[in-house]
Amino acid sequence: MNRRAFVQGLAGVVAASKWTEARTVETRLAERLAADPLRPQYHLLPVANWMNDPNGPIFWRGQYHMFYQYNPDGAYWGDMHWGHAVSADMVHWRQLPVALAPTPGGPDSAGVFSGTAAVVDGRVQMIYTGVRSVPEAAATIKNGDQSLLETQCVAISEDESLSRWRKRTQPVIAAPPAGMQVNGFRDPSPWRQGEWWYLTLAAGSGERGGAVLLYRSRDLQQWEFVHLLAERKGSIAVPLEKPDANEVWECPEFFALGEGAARRHVLIYSTNGKAYWLSGRLDERTMQFAPEQAGVLDYGSYYAPKTQVDAAGRRILWGWIPETRPLAEYKAAGWAGLMSLPRVLTLSAEGRLRMQVAPELERLQTAEQRLTPMSDAEALRVSMKAMRIADYCGELRCVAARGERAWEMALVGDEAKPWLRVAYAPMNPLEVCVNGIPVPVAGGGACEMRVWVDGSSMEVVLNGESACTIRFYPEGREAQELHPQWTGEATALRELSVWALTPISPDRLTTLA
Ligand code: FRU
Repeated sequence: MNRRAFVQGLAGVVAASKWTEARTVETRLAERLAADPLRPQYHLLPVANWMNDPNGPIFWRGQYHMFYQYNPDGAYWGDMHWGHAVSADMVHWRQLPVALAPTPGGPDSAGVFSGTAAVVDGRVQMIYTGVRSVPEAAATIKNGDQSLLETQCVAISEDESLSRWRKRTQPVIAAPPAGMQVNGFRDPSPWRQGEWWYLTLAAGSGERGGAVLLYRSRDLQQWEFVHLLAERKGSIAVPLEKPDANEVWECPEFFALGEGAARRHVLIYSTNGKAYWLSGRLDERTMQFAPEQAGVLDYGSYYAPKTQVDAAGRRILWGWIPETRPLAEYKAAGWAGLMSLPRVLTLSAEGRLRMQVAPELERLQTAEQRLTPMSDAEALRVSMKAMRIADYCGELRCVAARGERAWEMALVGDEAKPWLRVAYAPMNPLEVCVNGIPVPVAGGGACEMRVWVDGSSMEVVLNGESACTIRFYPEGREAQELHPQWTGEATALRELSVWALTPISPDRLTTLA
């Protein structure tokens, strides 16, 4: 049995000796990953190998199903499949075999790219982008060594556990709108509105920059192009650091948020390594979207997020947390990428997007280590040094006043090396810097920071408003103990707590169910 078949859990008839050999290799990899202190313990990630975007998250028959871009061949991007995991609470996950694989000779023969779940007649359907190799003239992705045609495909679930899928043999959207030159044509995201199904697709078009195509259909099979729902040119979208002629607004998703007069529509999309949002009003008759506010979903290592509505009706955002270390290092590590924690999205009265990690995560907290505020700097240093996060598996919450003096909250390891630094300077009172990255935090009062430390990742959320996810890669076979460290006036530190969190699996999720 080859490695891919093993990881997919597809039983095959193979010679026993070969099977044993492959099994030993896999067991060794699993043991290595289960002992890797940099591998997270309460975030979802595949049993091994590479993952990127979340795909088709859905609450179905009492369970949360998460799918994601997965390479069964190793810890690098390529040969896209859909990995699958299931959870009762969005916190504890169980690994399932691969859900979707490329079909030889089919429209997805070179990869099953990102997509979305829709429920039709009591069944879950996945609408996703299939890619296949074509001559360059016919390609929608041309990047030197690859020329691929992207088409929008459908897979229909064959069982309640969403493990078995039947694919339609032909794409439902086979080509970009007539006469339209696009860079990229992918990541369909449908929703039901009145009589119609609508769907967004990622695209971009030379000097106009990234764009989102809007389609509609009565039956999820025959689709007609409506218009561009949004595009960079002339819009209030956050500008790119460097203009990019090949820009594509990847993984767009469009949904309503908020109630009554505060209700707005939100468009999320990802481009050039960052995820963004636009919010504004949708004219539901003409389907014209008028963005009023724009922002960044996460200022750190976070890409291609996708949302779902949970059992309680909340809008939940999931994102891919990529590696920031070199390819050779994560390839050697045998795993790459993880799924962010679920974040609950809401809108402020002004229509700005806000987010908080779902309170369900608090179930993992064990005894709280809480600091008693004090004014003596040395006593504070000693007390903080005694607050410990072991195994890179914990949470920190801190509230600090934004006054006339600068401060810095750090999480430090061996030899006082800081892995996280959150710094405030009164010159820029409306931002804090997270490991040097400026992150806006609206004015008025204190700054609350919440930090989820897991393996080599830290998700930082500031005032329930802005997020910045960082990666850190200390050396050593054992995890260092981390402790908080404060620089600045002691009295500006108003509250500080640290918790150890309970891992969601005994072996860092290296076991397939
Ligand atoms: C975003 C993305 C998507 C595409 C997928 C392929 O990270 O490039 O646009 O569908 O990844 O893995």
